[in-house]
Amino acid sequence: MLTSGGDCQSLNATMRGVAKALYNMFDDVEIVGFEEGYKGLMYADYQILKPGDFSGILTRGGTILGTSRQPFKQMREPDENGLDKVEAMKHTYRKLRLECLVVLGGNGSQKTANLLREEGLNIVSLPKTIDNDLWGTDMTFGFQSAVNVATNAIDCIHTTAASHGRVFIVEIMGHKVGWLTLHAGIAGGADIILLPEIPYDLNVVCDALKKRSAAGKKFSIIAVAEGAISKEDAALSKKELKEKKKNSIYPSIAYEIGAKISQATGQEVRVTVPGHMQRGGEPCPYDRVLSTRLGAEAAELIKKGEYGYMVVVKDNEITKIPLSETAGKLKYVDPNGSIIKEAKLVGISFGDK
Ligand code: F6P
Repeated sequence: MLTSGGDCQSLNATMRGVAKALYNMFDDVEIVGFEEGYKGLMYADYQILKPGDFSGILTRGGTILGTSRQPFKQMREPDENGLDKVEAMKHTYRKLRLECLVVLGGNGSQKTANLLREEGLNIVSLPKTIDNDLWGTDMTFGFQSAVNVATNAIDCIHTTAASHGRVFIVEIMGHKVGWLTLHAGIAGGADIILLPEIPYDLNVVCDALKKRSAAGKKFSIIAVAEGAISKEDAALSKKELKEKKKNSIYPSIAYEIGAKISQATGQEVRVTVPGHMQRGGEPCPYDRVLSTRLGAEAAELIKKGEYGYMVVVKDNEITKIPLSETAGKLKYVDPNGSIIKEAKLVGISFGDK
């Protein structure tokens, strides 16, 4: 078993779900935990886990195994000592005579899991990420806990924004997708939500702010996804955009938007970036339940010897999807989806029109 990529609140709860179900199914099961994700599998850094290791971790954030980012793109490149990473992982797997490898990971980790499947390893994977961007599952574990933290950040900002009559921008994680910002933005009562999937027009954003001021509203809150993009930038080529970002004087998109709003409207703007807080703390009850269910189903697949799948939730039922189908595909917010329509109906601006 290994946890790979950025951590989230519900990794331990998921591993516990897998382990508890396996211990219930078999008398002689042995679980090997690899340290720091695929790195542990490459360099044979592991521990033999005992039932006690899974006790008391349902509510504990982070991961008892540690994690690291091992980019998929570099998997076929040798490490600094010339080690063939894929061969090394296969070697460890075979040397330990493993029945299967359970991978808890996000997009990149699922791609590597699929690569190892193609190389002949028995894989069961589980959809982890606060970004909720994995295609094939309605929900990833970690997402709802992060929504709680990000919402709480907006809630805290609300009272101070109201006292000072300022425009507050809260920058929310999510990489290149807007699920976390969308949900936290709606839950926190943001007035404007800017997502990567809906390029914004700064004039529209400023008009929405002015309209609020004219209506006597003293403050405004903008939830900005870290991957939000202006219409202007969305029209650039990948190369041009990369160059522009490299030369930007702003630490992140929220600061850029903040500076431009203050210049265009004269309003006082403050920026808040909750950052990695969003991955921290304990898993919320929703995630604890989801993780337990996904983990139990992963154990069920192992019992049946059904490998090469990611365990997912669809219409509130736990099921599985071939890794070959899901690995590498992202699930984006649909700009024409009903949640966007409903948010617009209650007056939230997405900066698009
Ligand atoms: O994928 C989870 C995530 O928290 C993203 O939302 C964010 O863009 C990224 O990881 C941050 O990565 P790191 O922890 O490596 O800085």
